[in-house]
Amino acid sequence: MIVRIQRGKGERFDDYDIEVNAGMTLLELLFRIQENIDQTLAFRYSCRGAICGSCAILANRRPVLACKTTLSRVTNLKIDDHVTLPSSAKLPDGGILLEPIPKLPVIRDLVVDWEPFFNEYRKLEPVLKNSDHPEKEHLLGKDKSRELEKYTNCILCALCWSACPVVSEVDGYPGPAALAKLFRFYLDPREPKSTKRLSVADNEAGWWACDFYSNCKKVCPKGVPPNVAIGRARKLLEDEEVEK
Ligand code: SF4
Ligand code: FES
Repeated sequence: MIVRIQRGKGERFDDYDIEVNAGMTLLELLFRIQENIDQTLAFRYSCRGAICGSCAILANRRPVLACKTTLSRVTNLKIDDHVTLPSSAKLPDGGILLEPIPKLPVIRDLVVDWEPFFNEYRKLEPVLKNSDHPEKEHLLGKDKSRELEKYTNCILCALCWSACPVVSEVDGYPGPAALAKLFRFYLDPREPKSTKRLSVADNEAGWWACDFYSNCKKVCPKGVPPNVAIGRARKLLEDEEVEK
C-alpha cells in the first residue's frame, strides 16, 4: 500500500510503499514505516489506548486517533460517514493520506503545537471552584453521574477543534472541547448552582459563535457531545435573560 505523509512543516509529501495488514492501527503503520523505511518520520503518541489524545492526526482527511483507528476503517469510510477536511494533497490510489491535524501550528511532520488549543481552554478556567469543605462526601446519584460522564470522558485530543469551522472563523473562540468542559463544571453539583459559571463565555466569540455544524460530536473518539452542551448553555442563558 502507498502511504502518503505530510513532511516537515508542510512543504512536501513523501510516499512510502509498505506491506500492511487490514487490522493494524494507523499508529502501528507509522511505527512500521519509521522502523523499516524512514527513521526521521516524526509523530506523537503516549498511551496507545485512546486515553492521552496525543496521537490525533488526519487520515484520508478525517480527524482520528492513530492508536484507535484501523487501516480497514480508514479505507472503508465513505465521504459522508464523517467530516472530510480540505487538503493540499491527493489521496494515493487505494492508499492512505496522513497529515497533521489542522488549525494548530505544525512542529514537524505529524507533530503539532497544542498551545493555541490549551490557551483558549485555560481561559475558561475549567477546574472545580468550591470553597466548601463538607464533612460528608458529595453523592452524585446515577442520573447525575451519567449526565456528567458524557463530558468528563473528554481526553483533550483537539480532534473537535480541528474539525470545527468556527475555530478558524471567529477569533478567540474557545472551541468545542473547552465549552463542553465549562458546561461540565456548571453541571457539577459540588459547585454552587448558578449560570454565573456560564457567563465567562456569554459573548459573541463564546457560546453564541457556534453555528451547530456539529462536526465536534461526529469526530469525537469518546462520544462527547460539545454541540449538546453549547445548545443547553445557550438555552439556560436565554431563559435567565427572559426572567430578568
Ligand atoms: S470533545 Fe472529544 S474530540 Fe474534542 S477534545 Fe474532547 S475527546 Fe477530543
Ligand atoms: S496514543 Fe494516547 S490516545 Fe492515541
